Amino acid sequence: MIYRSWIAILAGAGTTDHILNRRTIVVLKSVRKGRTGICKGVNMTSTFENIDCDQGMADLEIGSVDHIFTDPPYLKDVWEEAYQTLAINSMILLKPSGFLFTYCPQYRLSDVMGILEGAGLQYYWVIPVLNQNAGTGVVWARNAICLYTPILVYQNPPIKKAPMVFEDVVRGMCQKAYHPWQQSIHDVLGILCRFAISGETILDPFAGSGTTLLAAKLLGLEYIGFEIDPDTYRIACQRLEQQPLDLRQFCEVEA
Ligand SMILES: C[S@@+](CC[C@H](N)C(=O)[O-])C[C@H]1O[C@@H](n2cnc3c(N)ncnc32)[C@H](O)[C@@H]1O
Repeated sequence: MIYRSWIAILAGAGTTDHILNRRTIVVLKSVRKGRTGICKGVNMTSTFENIDCDQGMADLEIGSVDHIFTDPPYLKDVWEEAYQTLAINSMILLKPSGFLFTYCPQYRLSDVMGILEGAGLQYYWVIPVLNQNAGTGVVWARNAICLYTPILVYQNPPIKKAPMVFEDVVRGMCQKAYHPWQQSIHDVLGILCRFAISGETILDPFAGSGTTLLAAKLLGLEYIGFEIDPDTYRIACQRLEQQPLDLRQFCEVEA
């Protein structure tokens, strides 16, 4: 079913080209052809809970998570605690050489890298997400027009190279239909399909509208998610429960 709607979208490329991100199509094509090592699977053990991630992560088994992909809250009073919780739990929950991918605002880069490295995580790379719709976001404290968001890539030691060669710039899209802080699903797909392999489990402790979890589901990976806000949690559940998983909705193509 998913495959058919995907083909239908490609067939109508003239009308959808401007909306569908070409890179995502390439990713999905290679997933369908089994090139990425990720198979389409039923997410048998995936879970998503409406609780504080501190509590949720305390119940997970040590060393049980393959990779973490997340986007912590940036707000003034909470960001530091959020990144600290993330750093400590990454060290506890990630398998050896498991990757942590975390969005990080430009103006907090130095602090966040300090927190992650202070917990014992090892720096791997930075992936800038170029936001095609950006240009209005001036950071007045620096007089900078911010055209990209960094995704920090860290690893639970020891450093082990990614399973596939990856391009280190992501050309994202601005997608805010479900949540004001929503990130583009194309970012997550493009990265996970290079770094994760079949059967692996992806954790997003700050799941928001469920973008990471939805990408994992589409790629046939297992996921574990936590979201503290009940309204946002409900939105994420609706996205995850789409049946059948319609790629047009998934790619947020406007009707
Ligand atoms: C930046 S948003 C994530 C947006 C997400 N990437 C998306 O695409 O929708 C951060 C989310 O973390 C949630 N959050 C904040 N503190 C939390 C906590 N302690 N446990 C779980 N979720 C939390 C917020 O409610 C918010 O939805």
